[in-house]
Amino acid sequence: MSSVMVITVDGPVAAGKGLLSWRLAEHFGLNHLDSGMIYRATAARLLDQGDDPTDEAAAAFAAESLEISDLQRSDLRLQSVGQAASVIAALPSVRAALLRMQRRFAAKPPGAVIDGRDIGTVVCPDADVKLFVTAGLDVRAKRRFDELVGRGQSPVLAEITAEIAERDKRDMERETAPLRQAEDAILLDTSELDADQALVAALKIVEQQLKAPAKTSI
Ligand code: C5P
Repeated sequence: MSSVMVITVDGPVAAGKGLLSWRLAEHFGLNHLDSGMIYRATAARLLDQGDDPTDEAAAAFAAESLEISDLQRSDLRLQSVGQAASVIAALPSVRAALLRMQRRFAAKPPGAVIDGRDIGTVVCPDADVKLFVTAGLDVRAKRRFDELVGRGQSPVLAEITAEIAERDKRDMERETAPLRQAEDAILLDTSELDADQALVAALKIVEQQLKAPAKTSI
């Protein structure tokens, strides 16, 4: 194992990756990056300028000129920003610009927990531990619904379910870095688990993987 420890947490929308990754990072004293936020921040910049999210040149420019302050915007969690993020996320030049940023983050000691869609497959293929976190569509939609209600919004469950399904489909079917489980990632289905139980299950997987003999190639 290298002196920088990297744990990747990939999976579909609202699988519980964000909180789980943050808690894993706390537990192991690592940095945490929610990579979805950089796609969301890029999309938010484009929407501000009135640019079309399918305009690749404008989207790539927004990705290359992303600043730390963009990641602190309060509107990044809006459903509309998430949808636009998954549109720009399919553009190869946007992904290339954001890839460099994510790899720099992963390489900073003492290491990081990074959650997203392609972290174990593309961004950090040599990570120490890879998790693929998922849950049934209905469970994920209900979680997102409860989260929005908690924020004082009045969402419609059927609309949330359809939006999540649409975003997952786009993320899985794009040509560049589609959402998929890395061959060496361990699957964690959180359908029947609350956040504390998911953390216990994830810690068990991470501890087991860290103890496993180092991978060899011949
Ligand atoms: O995770 P979150 O829902 O915040 O991500 C927003 C969008 O950003 C996703 O739907 C996906 O299209 C894109 N994304 C990605 N690769 C990542 C993280 C997010 O394509 N590593």
